[in-house]
Amino acid sequence: MSQHVIFAAPFFMDATLRFVRGATRVDGIHVSVISQDPAERLPADLRARLAGHWRIEDGLDPDQLVTAVRQLEKRLGKAVRLMGALEQLQVPLARAREALGIPGVSVEAARNFRDKSRMKDVLRGAGVPCARHALVTERQQAEAFAAKVGFPIVVKPPDGAGGKGTFRLDRASDLATFLDRYPPTASQVTLYEEFVRGTEYSFDSVVIDGRPVWHSISRYMPSPLEVLENDWIQWCVMLPRDISGPEFDPIREAAFKGLDALGLKTGLSHMEWFKLLDERIAISEVGARPPGAQFTSLLSYAHNIDFYRAWPQLMALDEFNPPPRRFAAGAAYVRGQGRGRVRRIYGLDEAQQRFGDIVVEAKLPREGQPPSDSYEGDGYIIVRHAETEVVEHALQQIVKIIRVELAE
Ligand SMILES: Nc1ncnc2c1ncn2[C@@H]1O[C@H](COP(=O)(O)OP(=O)(O)O)[C@@H](O)[C@H]1O
Ligand SMILES: [Mg+2]
Repeated sequence: MSQHVIFAAPFFMDATLRFVRGATRVDGIHVSVISQDPAERLPADLRARLAGHWRIEDGLDPDQLVTAVRQLEKRLGKAVRLMGALEQLQVPLARAREALGIPGVSVEAARNFRDKSRMKDVLRGAGVPCARHALVTERQQAEAFAAKVGFPIVVKPPDGAGGKGTFRLDRASDLATFLDRYPPTASQVTLYEEFVRGTEYSFDSVVIDGRPVWHSISRYMPSPLEVLENDWIQWCVMLPRDISGPEFDPIREAAFKGLDALGLKTGLSHMEWFKLLDERIAISEVGARPPGAQFTSLLSYAHNIDFYRAWPQLMALDEFNPPPRRFAAGAAYVRGQGRGRVRRIYGLDEAQQRFGDIVVEAKLPREGQPPSDSYEGDGYIIVRHAETEVVEHALQQIVKIIRVELAE
């Protein structure tokens, strides 16, 4: 008998809708949607695939989520799962599930994943290496922390996402400027971290009933912080085909130990971590949700399956069986240079001629398009090949060849 699964999708962003669509393709379930956006904004074909829809005023309010679930259940039967991909939704969803008695990530665990300070306390408590940190509500605490760990330091909101509000401070004068501009108070808490030097990677993984069942590793080139600090840097992320080597043993061990300590029983999570210069590692952060920035597409290309369907299937039925990775895959993110809107793109012909045969997806900036306000950039190109070196070379070349000019 078909089971009722509810997908909370407050805002109909492209990535969210791809997961909703994937959910409607999972056998054995019928899917209804709770949203803040009106149903009319759903693409017609997707709307037709849904068993139901309920609109709420505030898509992040746990009480409204509970009411919506009860309404949908009246027509569609008891909901076996309540899921959502958005980072900011994870605690409200857990609260709603708790009130309704629907299984899933607990409120405690969801808070461990949402609050970066709690996260680091839990990880360190479990013996998992991560940067030293402090929650700062007064100027003196910031100065004391800097004196303890030394510069550079990184400052960020404790519950941030997408790198918004994250800065690196290199010296005491940077700290003083930052403190003047964003004075810390009890209600304006800032998270301070010691600066970790190394290469940044992700560790995306699945656990079922606390058992590790799958993982993927990808490398950022360069780090998201460098990309944030330099709004012209075109960056790449790469999923090597073979990640079985011993160089990744430390992160495999630390990651699953960390996830267990944070309280994830069943789910997919996206972790960011550093390989330090001396081969030690440090875990940076982890979200109990699928990754953004085209990572889900990259995972799909590398494994030749649809991860937009595989994730809802995991959440709905506790099933996850992707085949072994058969390809390396990577994305090159193109970003406009200058100010204003997109005026011209250079180098497309050359990139197409040299690497067109391994490009599997691209979204190129359109002329007149306003510049992106996110480090994901104004467009991307995804490549895939059985050999990691081929993908790495192509990505490095593509970001050199393609240039997007902005103009007022
Ligand atoms: N302690 C740190 N040391 C070095 N770089 C850091 C540190 N914390 C964050 N960063 C850099 O800043 C980026 C964004 O920070 P992160 O905590 O991941 O925020 P978000 O949740 O917004 O992604 C990271 O990807 C990394 O490049
Ligand atoms: Mg991050």
